[in-house]
Amino acid sequence: MRCFGQNYQRVLCSATNICSACAVFFFMTIIFFYKSNIYGLTYNSNMLLGNVSNRYLCPYFRGGLGNHMFMYSSLNGIAKIKNMKLVINEKDTINTVFKLNVLILKNAKYICEQAVLVNEKRPCAYDLETFNFDPSKPVKLKGYLQSWKYFKHVEKELRKQFIFKEEVNQKAQEVIEKYTKMFTSNKTNSEKLKIIGVHIRRGDYLTTHNIKYGYNVAPKAYLQKAFDYFRSKYKNCLFLVFTGTSKEDIKWRDDNVHGKDVLKVAANERNVDMCALTKCDHTIITVGSFGWWSAWLSTGTTIYFKDIAQTNSSLRKDFSADMTDFFPNDWIGF
Ligand SMILES: *[C@@H]1O[C@H](CO)[C@@H](O)[C@H](O)[C@H]1NC(C)=O
Ligand SMILES: *[C@@H]1O[C@H](CO)[C@@H](O)[C@H](O)[C@H]1NC(C)=O
Ligand SMILES: *[C@@H]1O[C@H](CO)[C@@H](O)[C@H](O)[C@H]1NC(C)=O
Repeated sequence: MRCFGQNYQRVLCSATNICSACAVFFFMTIIFFYKSNIYGLTYNSNMLLGNVSNRYLCPYFRGGLGNHMFMYSSLNGIAKIKNMKLVINEKDTINTVFKLNVLILKNAKYICEQAVLVNEKRPCAYDLETFNFDPSKPVKLKGYLQSWKYFKHVEKELRKQFIFKEEVNQKAQEVIEKYTKMFTSNKTNSEKLKIIGVHIRRGDYLTTHNIKYGYNVAPKAYLQKAFDYFRSKYKNCLFLVFTGTSKEDIKWRDDNVHGKDVLKVAANERNVDMCALTKCDHTIITVGSFGWWSAWLSTGTTIYFKDIAQTNSSLRKDFSADMTDFFPNDWIGF
């Protein structure tokens, strides 16, 4: 009995020890969270594991949604290779459109304002020089980073993150259904309908400055060729043509894009339009990163305008020689 009592006491005693250890740990955790809250940390599972490293990568967001998606995706890929953590602000556009799984801070400036600024050399190419920085201190990487090669190895994770919010998804679905109904109500075609999302962008590429830099826009002939590619492949096509809100682009579309199998889609918010484009069976894009991402998020075939940069122009030099850093291999260039 005594033995048992002793053992019992020992058990009790070690239980008490464990519990005080628990309590200490508990309080430390509370203090840790309290302190981390000062810095506005909202998501810090890695920090909970005890190793708070300095290996932070900060973005330098600018441009439209498509630009942000390139920056976010490429930085994801670069962070993975450099064993760093990508840090973004809660209010960054990309975080308001998608549900991301990187370190999201209420205010990233506590980390990012001390970061070393690193600049890319070529905005539309995969450049190994971009990786050439010391990752042991926070780094802010400023660049357009427009190459799928920066994020090929994290593609699966990105596709899981680039899911539109339910409300946006719903609106986009309504857009597709509305136009499909409009089209099919007049016809009795028993062939399966193939919906081809078309994105036209021109206006802001036609400024004197941009033309001088080397930008081209897709001409009518390109679109005709791209439409005919699908018409010869499928018996029952519907082309849904998106432009965004630019009056110039809407006018150009109304003047130049016609056909019994063509419907012009009224512009919605950018993310609704992108989401609707991704719901189409196939995609035709012209210029710009918005179209690029609409195509990347879609399944099916993508036709792209390959002559986006004038020969020997400054813009052309932003790309790799064969442009395959920018255009994925399985897209078809016309
Ligand atoms: C954190 O990790 C780094 C590299 O993995 C290591 O060198 C360092 O000692 C670790 N620090 C702590 C506090 O565990
Ligand atoms: C459907 O047919 C009506 C009447 O022929 C026509 O006015 C309308 O434009 C057609 N709608 C479409 C989407 O082709
Ligand atoms: C582009 O540059 C190359 C090499 O300098 C030259 O041979 C070619 O004629 C140029 N093409 C145009 C369209 O200017």
